[in-house]
Amino acid sequence: MAEREIRLLGDPVLRRTAQPVPALTETVRALIADMFDTMYGADGVGLAAPQVGIGDRVIVVDPRQDDVQPFALVNPVILERSSEVDRAEEGCLSIPGLQEIVERPVRVTVAGLDRDGAPVRMAVEGFVARILQHEIDHLDGVLFIDRVSPLKRKLLIDKWKKLHR
Ligand code: NI
Repeated sequence: MAEREIRLLGDPVLRRTAQPVPALTETVRALIADMFDTMYGADGVGLAAPQVGIGDRVIVVDPRQDDVQPFALVNPVILERSSEVDRAEEGCLSIPGLQEIVERPVRVTVAGLDRDGAPVRMAVEGFVARILQHEIDHLDGVLFIDRVSPLKRKLLIDKWKKLHR
């Protein structure tokens, strides 16, 4: 397996809606393995397939917590969101150098398929819930900079342009 190139802000693949995966083929399993390698290579806690240029609804997550095993989710869907929200700083492997406070529901219930194609359903909170929401956003072409105020977004994009000029 191998690390793949991480697509950066400005790459149109990050803004496309990813498509549901019809079957857990060898190609999809290889994608998942490569996504784990890519996430670990970049020291991330989550990665979505569009970030490696693939328009499939696949994410991998490893919050690096002793009580949470790394996992992949195929075709993840958020079934429930808590009305309670919290605010925490987020970054993104596709937008290196930028961080901002993002408000999100504290708890979510998510369903999908695991890497073997078995249905899974998980109710999570805190950091894991935040990662899941961030990664599932990627599948809909949404980035964390879309979830801050217009003023903060402008400041972030200005900073990005300075960093990547
Ligand atoms: Ni991201």
